[in-house]
Amino acid sequence: YLNGLGGQLPPFTTDFTALEDSVRERLEPGPFRYVAGSAGSGATARANRAAFDAWRLVPRMLRDATVRDLRTTVLGTDMPAPVLLAPIGVQSIIHPDGELATARAAAALGVPTVLSTASSHTIEDVAAASGDGPRWYQLYWPNDDEVCVSILNRAKAAGFTTLVVTLDTWTLAWRPHDLDLSYLPFVRGVGTAIPFSDPAFLAGLEKSPEEDLISAVLRWVPMFTGTDRSWDRLPFLRDHWDGPIVLKGIQHPDDARRAAAAGMDGIVVSNHGGRQVDGAVASLEMLPEIAAAVGDRTEVLFDSGVRTGSDVLKALALGAKAVLLGRPYAYGLAHGGEDGVRHVLSGLLADLDLTLGLSGHRSPAELSPESLRRA
Ligand code: FNR
Repeated sequence: YLNGLGGQLPPFTTDFTALEDSVRERLEPGPFRYVAGSAGSGATARANRAAFDAWRLVPRMLRDATVRDLRTTVLGTDMPAPVLLAPIGVQSIIHPDGELATARAAAALGVPTVLSTASSHTIEDVAAASGDGPRWYQLYWPNDDEVCVSILNRAKAAGFTTLVVTLDTWTLAWRPHDLDLSYLPFVRGVGTAIPFSDPAFLAGLEKSPEEDLISAVLRWVPMFTGTDRSWDRLPFLRDHWDGPIVLKGIQHPDDARRAAAAGMDGIVVSNHGGRQVDGAVASLEMLPEIAAAVGDRTEVLFDSGVRTGSDVLKALALGAKAVLLGRPYAYGLAHGGEDGVRHVLSGLLADLDLTLGLSGHRSPAELSPESLRRA
């Protein structure tokens, strides 16, 4: 506020519910719809937001919340607040610096970033951009075991500590926004970077990927469109990854129980931001049941629809240990690369801190379902 009185305004809106509209004017339709779009009619993406609106915080007074501590540790990773950056693929579509900018911004704040298998930049380059910042790796499980092991070894060697295995995207959903635009952002190579620069995905191309973006994409897609993944294949990952493993995309309490029984260290309750099964239940709606189903047998993380500090509080109160932030930071990237991501992220953390304190809590651990009422 005081900076504003001195004439120094933020680089772009601090109303993070308005971010999408502000980015719509900034990006070309292809990149914009790549980020903002969802599966089918968008019903699940809307349901994700409605589920947050259906819960309200009940503030408590005179509880001395003037000094707060938001720090937490998830699966051995210390973080300044229970927030991580969700894996978002091909970020060069949004900004040429893509994942490098995201990694730098996250590291500057000590917030863990989860790097997507579909990264525009190589695992090693993103690790270097992260410096000593915490980093997790998200796996789209390749068909080829050798490719899989190679990716896992490289991620481990590059300092990624936790493996997040995304289960809900073994093939791309019906996404009209992408189909209508024929993936123009890929074909045009928006920005200066190619969609996937990792040699693992580009080996065997006759031309350079710059010359033949379509072949690069066509090579990538079948490598990750798996059909034979089942619960009994999880030991393969355990054998080739010696850190914690988290399953992302869990929506049913029985799947959560099964993940815990399989010895998985964590789950992300997620519907991929409504980008996979249109008409699927809101992610937040399933969270309490899932948290109750697994208790403390596995860490419960959450994403899909988090936009504000109070959203984070609601997810924590309903049983999540931490949340993953998705589209909002991608909008920050679109607005201003590394600085844009930092603006969104530091704003969200400040909002979270203030809302936690003003609702009468000193730490996230004090939140429980009692902190909320159904609207
Ligand atoms: C994603 N998400 C995603 N998830 C994943 O495991 N690997 C990936 O490569 C991607 N890529 C990706 C691209 C874009 C543009 C978006 C918006 C999302 C899903 C992501 O990790 C997270 O689950 C959702 O973004 C959460 O929903 P909200 O908060 O963005 O609505």
